[in-house]
Amino acid sequence: MKKKISVIDGDGIGPEIMESTIKILKSIEKKYQHHFSYHRVLGGGMAIEKFGVPMPEETMNICSKSDAILLSCFGDPKYDHFPIGMRPEDGLLKLRKSMKAYCNIRPIFFYNTLSNQSPIKKELLNGVNFVIYRELTGGIYFGKKGRIKNGDIAYDHCTYSKKEIERIGYHAFHAAMNRTKKLTLVDKSNVLETSRLWREVICKMGKDYPEVTLNFLYVDNAAMQIILTPSKFDIILTDNMFGDILSDLSSVLIGSLGLLPSSSIGYGTPIFEPVHGSYPQAKGKNIANPIGCILSASMMLEYFGMYKEQKLLIEAVNHSIKHGIITKDLCSCPLSRTTSEVGNYIVTYINNH
Ligand code: IPM
Ligand code: MN
Repeated sequence: MKKKISVIDGDGIGPEIMESTIKILKSIEKKYQHHFSYHRVLGGGMAIEKFGVPMPEETMNICSKSDAILLSCFGDPKYDHFPIGMRPEDGLLKLRKSMKAYCNIRPIFFYNTLSNQSPIKKELLNGVNFVIYRELTGGIYFGKKGRIKNGDIAYDHCTYSKKEIERIGYHAFHAAMNRTKKLTLVDKSNVLETSRLWREVICKMGKDYPEVTLNFLYVDNAAMQIILTPSKFDIILTDNMFGDILSDLSSVLIGSLGLLPSSSIGYGTPIFEPVHGSYPQAKGKNIANPIGCILSASMMLEYFGMYKEQKLLIEAVNHSIKHGIITKDLCSCPLSRTTSEVGNYIVTYINNH
């Protein structure tokens, strides 16, 4: 199969984790005789340096003509004082919006051999396997924002339409049907009007999926339940802001934010990116965990319908974790491996299986 992939190296640890990920994709390509073309495009800090904007038109044009976008992470404290719309993160939001990638899927999966890494009691972690469906192109992230009264008053508007809720609701219900048929809507409908609309719309949709058990949790309670009874969750559906917060929270269960991948799908080119940020302190040190980015690439293979390929890649990742070929975030210093060692181990596994 031929596929055109737009690759954004990103900021901080981005280029290092992307290098390992591409090496792995090349080994998959070779083994299964695919042809992937990798089109490097700029976004985030590197785009600010070259074009003065975090998401150039050229990048969006190329991305919109490709089969998938693989990106690492955006953000650099160097640009913290830049105005709204001009920081690396704004580039990411612009890309998500322009690809209409409204449905962000973040699987959380517990690896037995990493139980010592989690601050949560082992017995609570067995069987943790849930997926957050985070709305990605609406809500408070994209509402009108600004300052009034000489900057002394700030506002961020949160709006959601029925259509925005229904279209991600559809994906979440389908995912629930293919798993254990449990869907939890997380909102704050005791306070927020947008949340009341979410509940109304999802409740109504639930009638079309009678086999799906629908639960509702306020976000504050959900944060507590995810820590207290994490194995009870299957599909969590929530808005942009709550999904952002709950995904970092959930990463604590499994030991490191560096492990979490995501895919973002909608009407345009799908985006595959790890959940973590750019970890600027580790930039260039070859210590960052590449697994979140590598597993994002595995979600891309699944999207391409390359199921055998995806299965082998996941098997290789599981094998590396099981055998302690892991980066510093997951084990204490002398035993840890570098970013490229983890990548090379996975490449070797793929070549030999
Ligand atoms: C994420 C990140 C982004 C977000 C930032 C970098 C804008 O935290 O993907 O979770 O808030 O969506
Ligand atoms: Mn986040």
